[in-house]
Amino acid sequence: MISEFVPTVTAVSSAVQKVDADALVLGVAKGPDGPVLLPNPLAEKAAKGVSDSLQALGASGAADQLLRLPGVDGYQSETLVLVGVGKLTGEPDGGVSAEALRRAAGSAVRQLSAADSVAFALPASTVEQVAAIAEGAALGAYNFPHFKGSESDRTKTPVSHITVLTELREKHTKSAVARAGVVAAAVRATRDLVNTPPSHLYPESFADEVKANAKGTKLKIKVWDHKELEKEGFGGLLGVGNGSARKPRLVRVEHAPSRPVAHVALVGKGITFDTGGISLKPSNAMTTMKLDMAGAATVAAVVRAAADLDLPVKVTGWLCLAENMPSSTAQRPEDVITIYGGKTVEVLNTDAEGRLVMADGIVAAGEENPDAIIDVATLTGAQMIALGLRTVGVMGQDQLRESIVAASESAGESHWAMPIPEEALSGFESTVADLTNLGAREGGMLNAAAFLREFVPNRADADKDALDADSQRIPWAHIDLAGPAFNDKSAYHYVPKGGTGVTVRTLISYLEGLGR
Ligand code: BES
Ligand code: MN
Ligand code: ZN
Repeated sequence: MISEFVPTVTAVSSAVQKVDADALVLGVAKGPDGPVLLPNPLAEKAAKGVSDSLQALGASGAADQLLRLPGVDGYQSETLVLVGVGKLTGEPDGGVSAEALRRAAGSAVRQLSAADSVAFALPASTVEQVAAIAEGAALGAYNFPHFKGSESDRTKTPVSHITVLTELREKHTKSAVARAGVVAAAVRATRDLVNTPPSHLYPESFADEVKANAKGTKLKIKVWDHKELEKEGFGGLLGVGNGSARKPRLVRVEHAPSRPVAHVALVGKGITFDTGGISLKPSNAMTTMKLDMAGAATVAAVVRAAADLDLPVKVTGWLCLAENMPSSTAQRPEDVITIYGGKTVEVLNTDAEGRLVMADGIVAAGEENPDAIIDVATLTGAQMIALGLRTVGVMGQDQLRESIVAASESAGESHWAMPIPEEALSGFESTVADLTNLGAREGGMLNAAAFLREFVPNRADADKDALDADSQRIPWAHIDLAGPAFNDKSAYHYVPKGGTGVTVRTLISYLEGLGR
């Protein structure tokens, strides 16, 4: 269920006194000798009044700290709000990074949820800073009220009007602010899909939602239903989906500009609920498993954003949708299935289902010989053990992996390169099939990547004599966001509870980089 809510975001150079918002937000940093009020357009006397009372107010400058003060005489805004931006970096740009501004703006909007309009008087003397504040604020403007019982709860909106004060002229900030709006909308759409309960989001309804969301765009969509999956031999999706009355789907979404500079295929894991199947999860590990379609949601949102931004890159998104349920028709441990393209897998643990549906998707995506395949999946609990809840793991071909990590850095997200050691595949040996689906427990995230790599097809122009097996493959990277995709702790920065929409910004930045 993708909400139609869109906050308005404008950057203006009008006088701050005249800005009539529910709240006017100033920034406070953690300086070496205590809190520092960041440069702002307030008149000297008003600014000094606030600055002198920071200590007394208990303002520390710590990220996520929010203090509400009464409005100031002569200013239209009802209240003055101080938001912490964290430590100064010591850089010449005033010492506040773009991501620090994004977090502060997002945190303010998120915590000022009762306000309708918020204006920002944060350092905004460059286009990058204006864009960061706009994006952060739009990321913080999020709620998910659709399943509340009462009409008034259900129609509550987050902060709806965001103003960024800047001395820059509108013609210089306009496209950056528009881009920020598209990026934030993609993140919000991903969160919405992740938050939608499995009672309402299942393979068929997911495919319908993607179709509905593409109305009015030039995106092309193809859906394989259960029958077509059977006919074409998508054994991974069929095997995993067999236990559920809600049958699996494969969805292909295409953004095809007229003269593309490259073709990138994105493959997303879309398990709409992961019970583990016959290898049933204990109930405490099962809650939050509606998150297991976050990869597919990310891919759907990124392809849509590529169209909205008119990127000169062809992007094909592949959504591998199935529900992993135990039943008398479910696949069993020791079943052998045939992945699309012919490789066979002995299923030793039905809870290692993501790699099975992803194998189908990766082979199908590779048939079109794209320049790169990037898969996105909440694949392993081991991801969280290795990298925690806020850092996404990136594996695969060196160059592609590094490009994604670099894009993440410029987007302000946290993605970390991880290796696929030589021995990672050795645990998957099967006596009856080509592979099992269960590798060693140690290094589980890396082993799962090694399994997926076996399904990456060769490049059409690969020289079989000159290259070793892995360098003949289409450049491929694997993104495991199992932990960071869902925040079941408290909200922070611009990140709400529930679906986070992580990795959307990284992939958009990566695609933009190809077009430059
Ligand atoms: N969807 C899970 C991975 C996961 C776990 C995502 C926790 C988010 C939070 C995946 O399908 C799974 O169950 N993986 C197993 C694999 C194991 C059986 C090899 C795991 O990580 O325990
Ligand atoms: Mn599982
Ligand atoms: Zn799963």
